[in-house]
Amino acid sequence: MIEILQIGQRLVRDERVITHIILVARAFNATKIYMHENNEHMKNTVYKINSTWGGNFEIDFINNWKKFIKIKKKSYKIIHLTMYGEDINCACSKINAENNMLIIVGASKVPREIYEIADYNIAIGNQPHSEISALAVFLDRIQHGKQFLKKFNNAKIEIIPDVRGKNILSKTID
Ligand SMILES: C[S@@+](CC[C@H](N)C(=O)[O-])C[C@H]1O[C@@H](n2cnc3c(N)ncnc32)[C@H](O)[C@@H]1O
Repeated sequence: MIEILQIGQRLVRDERVITHIILVARAFNATKIYMHENNEHMKNTVYKINSTWGGNFEIDFINNWKKFIKIKKKSYKIIHLTMYGEDINCACSKINAENNMLIIVGASKVPREIYEIADYNIAIGNQPHSEISALAVFLDRIQHGKQFLKKFNNAKIEIIPDVRGKNILSKTID
């Protein structure tokens, strides 16, 4: 089970970024995202994505991230993505994609305690880029592309890969 914790969002300003984190998480085989501030709009976004593209990606809101991570740590590996962490190229072999994992991504400055509570602080290179790209690269590295084999149940539309254009299968669901 792969889950994501997004911390430090700046609500309105970051809604597009958060939407993209959700899209990446879902498309790359994570099952759930936790955010530390209630956001009904994002809940609605997840509902719409699931109803069009299928699957059952979940979103939940937490109000105490410290307590939440401590509880998760009993059965999940805690992986914090940060440019200050250890090199993904070296750390990748230590991380077993079969384990339950909670992947933490930040928005701006992440509280110091996260670095200490995490089992791994992983850098996708040591230059700043974005939580969206860091998440996508990390999920691809640990799953070796297998995430794209995932089937999404009850999709209204499905893309048929095509070398030269858009081939979309519309499914009617009663
Ligand atoms: C705008 S960046 C802030 C950069 C931040 N000072 C850091 O610790 O990586 C927001 C988030 O993107 C992710 N991120 C950005 N660059 C990264 C990198 N090179 N490696 C891993 N994660 C990165 C981290 O999760 C970070 O909290």
